[in-house]
Amino acid sequence: MCGIVGYIGKQKASAIILEGLKRLEYRGYDSAGVAVLRDGHFDLAKKAGRVEGLIKGTPAQKIAGTTGIGHTRWATHGGVTDANAHPHISSDGRIALIHNGVIENYASIKKFLLTKGFTFLSETDTEVLCNLLAYHYQKEPAAPEASRFLESVRKTLRHVEGTYGIAVLCTDCPAEIVAARKGSPLILGVGDGEYMLASDVSAIISRTQNVVYLKDGEIVHITATNFSITTLDAEDVSPVVDTITWKVEDADLNGYAHFMEKEIFEQPAALENTMRGRFAEDGSTAQFGGLNISAVDLRQVDRFHFLACGSAWHACLVAEHLIERFARVPVEVDYASEFRYRNMPLGSSTLFFTVSQSGETIDTLAALREAKRKGYKVLAIANVVGSTIAREADGGVYQHVGPEIGVASTKAFTSQLLVGAMLALYLGRMRDMSFSDGVEYVKALKGVPDLVRRTLETAPKIKEIARRYAHYHDFLFLGRLSLFPVALEGALKLKEISYIHAEGYPAAEMKHGPIALISESCPSVFFVPSGEMFNKVVSSMQEIKARKGRIIAVATENCDLPAGLADEVIRIPECHEAVLPIVATVPVQLLSYYIAEELKRDVDKPRNLAKSVTVE
Ligand code: F6R
Repeated sequence: MCGIVGYIGKQKASAIILEGLKRLEYRGYDSAGVAVLRDGHFDLAKKAGRVEGLIKGTPAQKIAGTTGIGHTRWATHGGVTDANAHPHISSDGRIALIHNGVIENYASIKKFLLTKGFTFLSETDTEVLCNLLAYHYQKEPAAPEASRFLESVRKTLRHVEGTYGIAVLCTDCPAEIVAARKGSPLILGVGDGEYMLASDVSAIISRTQNVVYLKDGEIVHITATNFSITTLDAEDVSPVVDTITWKVEDADLNGYAHFMEKEIFEQPAALENTMRGRFAEDGSTAQFGGLNISAVDLRQVDRFHFLACGSAWHACLVAEHLIERFARVPVEVDYASEFRYRNMPLGSSTLFFTVSQSGETIDTLAALREAKRKGYKVLAIANVVGSTIAREADGGVYQHVGPEIGVASTKAFTSQLLVGAMLALYLGRMRDMSFSDGVEYVKALKGVPDLVRRTLETAPKIKEIARRYAHYHDFLFLGRLSLFPVALEGALKLKEISYIHAEGYPAAEMKHGPIALISESCPSVFFVPSGEMFNKVVSSMQEIKARKGRIIAVATENCDLPAGLADEVIRIPECHEAVLPIVATVPVQLLSYYIAEELKRDVDKPRNLAKSVTVE
């Protein structure tokens, strides 16, 4: 949510910053802006709308200089206007600031600053922060400029409540950037004679693979030749420089029309990467290097508690089903945003899992901290290496699917399903699952990339279906057991990228209310597996058909569907129930994608959304 980029080096800062902003645009696309230091003043360009619009509307010579900051905004305080776009400049013209997060006490600070003669051009909390910094800078004794700049950032941050990732320029310090974080991600890229700041690695990966992940409460002071990290209390921090394993191509479209399409089709390889090196030698169970909990301790756990938001929450519901089914241990799944305020009674032998692609979702992070505060061990399933959730968890599993840039989660979601299935196997084999059942389960997991590959071959057919169904305004998604969360995910995918109203339900639950929606103009997408649930699901389909509802069936190959019951049938391979949710997800990802494309929606940047929700 909001993307931050900073550059200091020998190159022209604006070109590098704008390129970084384009890569970060999925974090917010309400407005974009850049400020560059030149001859003791700021060259500033900012505009409501996309980065592309900013680039087109800004002659390069208007933003020259080698030290600068840039921002893509997801609006919190104040509407989507040029004035509310970042960077903000203090009313004395000395400070430029970009900000990701929310300053909760901005109103009282603003009141104070108005009494001191500061003026405001925007409705944002960020401009308040910027002027507060200018106020402290003015008040600092005439110490050497650099320490005066740094010290006034420290003083300012001690007065603010809320969350922030900020980067700041000062006209008195022509080759310096000060940046800090609390609750919003920020990394420092250490390049060859240059430094970059960014909200995530995709903005800097083309220039350097060496990064320092800043922690909450840390401030980095960057000059053209060096950097130092301190805390808000001015204590020195020894930086750890990590190497990113993602490649530049991972963050490019590589010929696809959208990142969502690319990421859907990347799933076989992504799932392969999630599994790599994670099976025991005897071929009967999974293994995880980073759980940081012994088998003996894990055996003592009598309840797992999963916390997540959005699609990741759906993945937890599938994990719940599989862990309870194969490991026979009760599982609780909570929306992270609810858990942190719920104060529910918790058992003493509970182990928590937080699940988050970005590893930065603030609700999930807050829930993790709440569980830890209560004395529980919390593990994480995350994709972004070095993310806050990954670092604050006691251990966990990285998904290794590369950057997910499309706002709608696809490959990260199926990879979370896979990790859940692997955990169910691992925990099951510690308990009642036999060796031979374990071997069969492992075989099924290893086959999943191929099953997904085969399912992707249905894309042309699904595209055709999408063309015929794109004009409907309401959809129901219906599935049972582990396919109920897939129904929720299908409905979420459709609504978030096509803006069509869609709801997911357990198939049998439909007759307790949602069936009232059914008519010729509200199609239902049914997940139909062969096996014990087949007849039950078919009965639900009959009930819809009797009311003239159109039906799209996502059915496994062996399902002998009554003739004429479904209007459209998308076949998926028969498979082990541990991998069925993964395979069944693919057609509804494609259906949503092609419907959104048919409707000419902005697939990778749907309205009002942003990837990585770092505000509460
Ligand atoms: C939906 C989607 C969101 C995320 C949710 C959690 O397509 O992407 O619902 O799943 O915002 O994000 P992470 O997994 O980054 O915590």
